[in-house]
Amino acid sequence: MNYTRFITAVSAARKPSPIRLLTELMQKSPPSLISLAGGAPNPNTFPFKTAKITIDDGTAIEFGEDLMKRALQYSASAGIPELLSWLKKFQNNLHKPLTAEFSPDQGQMEICVTTGSQEGLCKVFEMLINPGDNILLDTPAYPGTLAALRPLGCNIIGLRSDQDGLIPDSLRAALSRWRPEEAQKPNRQTPKFLYTVPNGSNPTGTSLPYERKKEIYEMARKYDFLIIEDDPYYFLQFNKVRYHVCLFYSQNYFWNLDSLFAGKEIEEEIQINTPKPSQKN
Ligand SMILES: Cc1ncc(COP(=O)(O)O)c(C=O)c1O
Repeated sequence: MNYTRFITAVSAARKPSPIRLLTELMQKSPPSLISLAGGAPNPNTFPFKTAKITIDDGTAIEFGEDLMKRALQYSASAGIPELLSWLKKFQNNLHKPLTAEFSPDQGQMEICVTTGSQEGLCKVFEMLINPGDNILLDTPAYPGTLAALRPLGCNIIGLRSDQDGLIPDSLRAALSRWRPEEAQKPNRQTPKFLYTVPNGSNPTGTSLPYERKKEIYEMARKYDFLIIEDDPYYFLQFNKVRYHVCLFYSQNYFWNLDSLFAGKEIEEEIQINTPKPSQKN
């Protein structure tokens, strides 16, 4: 899927910085290469040489000198390549997104590391919102989301939720003021995206059942809007739904923001090799 129609003119005008591209090239080069192209600090001058972190079960994680030099050096903007491929494997094992198999022009799954979900949210909103755009939000909403959205001058359409999260009929009613064809017009007024917290929503604590996600996803396709899925609480569910857990139907039309903070849980998840497609939420 081509996302250009959703992106603001400012965002579309951005080009990758040549320095960041050179950094990526340097990372793939042999250590003997002395690059005079980009300004990389001499790692021998870095103040921290090694580090050791002990986690609550007593396991120690050690950063030797080489790793420390790597960690403190400039790297590619999306994240250190090894971390990105670990995260891709993690997403594949956990959620099996169909987009992982897509070609880049079909909208292949991409990952970018940010300092938490909040930074991801701010980046996504800036990338998508022009003043006056209509956007959909399930309420009551996380105050950090409102704080990021309000200064951007969009028109926030609040949707109702109950004990199972966002009510599809409330979304249907909000969309009924437009015809689906209007979403294809260049100066579309139809909503650009729906923001939702599908697991353990903040502040309500509700989680969307699979059937609702499916219904909401179908409306996103019909009215051509994105689903911004903020998912910082996936690992905090009391009734753990493991193995093949569909995100928002795991197709394109959704962008996902995860927070990784529950180390042990994540370690267990990455070891799962045999997904059971019957278990969905
Ligand atoms: C729904 C929601 N999104 C995002 C965040 C921010 O997450 P992070 O700490 O990963 O930036 C929070 C934190 O409370 C939250 O509740």
